[in-house]
Amino acid sequence: MLSPQGRVIMVSGANRGIGLAVARALHAKGYTLSLGARDPAKLEAATRDLGSERLFRAAFDARDLASGEAWVRGTAERWGRIDGLVNNAAIALDVAIEDEDESAYDAMWEINVKGPLRLIRLALPHLRRAGSGRIVNIASLSGKRVKNDKAGYAMSKFAVMALTHAARRAGWADGVRATALCPGFVATDMTQWVTDFPRESMTQPEDLAELVATVLALPNNAAIAELLVNCRFEEML
Ligand SMILES: NC(=O)c1ccc[n+]([C@@H]2O[C@H](COP(=O)([O-])OP(=O)(O)OC[C@H]3O[C@@H](n4cnc5c(N)ncnc54)[C@H](OP(=O)(O)O)[C@@H]3O)[C@@H](O)[C@H]2O)c1
Repeated sequence: MLSPQGRVIMVSGANRGIGLAVARALHAKGYTLSLGARDPAKLEAATRDLGSERLFRAAFDARDLASGEAWVRGTAERWGRIDGLVNNAAIALDVAIEDEDESAYDAMWEINVKGPLRLIRLALPHLRRAGSGRIVNIASLSGKRVKNDKAGYAMSKFAVMALTHAARRAGWADGVRATALCPGFVATDMTQWVTDFPRESMTQPEDLAELVATVLALPNNAAIAELLVNCRFEEML
């Protein structure tokens, strides 16, 4: 297993939900972090107890290429290296096949797909240099099958699966390993709309964070391309 000490991991959307749980778990294990969030004040408030010794905080809006550029540049300047990128930030808008307004499709393409794509592109030179760079894309079981009317969200997460495999291909020879982490329901703000499944039975963000930590620590010759996480039984998934 790879040691956390001295390894620098970027986490997007680290101010709440799964991203915050990932940041907390990685910090506790000794990683050095670079956290990105739309609202730096909210990020600071959510992570103040972690201090700043192994923590760099940056403004990052997935819709804004310049903010991604500044975040990656700032991380490299602050720590001199980037060993991992956790693409967590995303939105889940409710849009179905027959809806004529396409704005939600466009927003999810930009934030859920182009956001991670841009960060991968920007971080890849650093990840390659690390020799054991890691990319963890928080995808979804909605990137593996379609079982509700949220067509736009599922389409964006299927695209994240393709992005993950494209990143694996691009970085493999230089030791970069990419993983798509695919949970079902997770007990965060994103599942507030779910009323027919108990929150305590959903996957907890802290448990997903442990899986992220495991993926980051596995050696180059034990790479996981897709990690499917169930909180309830599904045929074949
Ligand atoms: N919850 C689930 O059941 C579930 C299941 C499968 C996969 N996932 C995936 O897990 C990841 C995290 O979800 P979550 O459940 O933690 O959701 P969440 O609680 O709604 O948090 C979403 C995070 O993404 C950030 N974000 C949204 N738009 C952004 C933008 N334009 N630029 C930068 N950051 C942005 C949010 O920042 P703000 O606070 O500023 O809005 C927040 O930090 C997502 O990729 C989601 O698709 C979640």
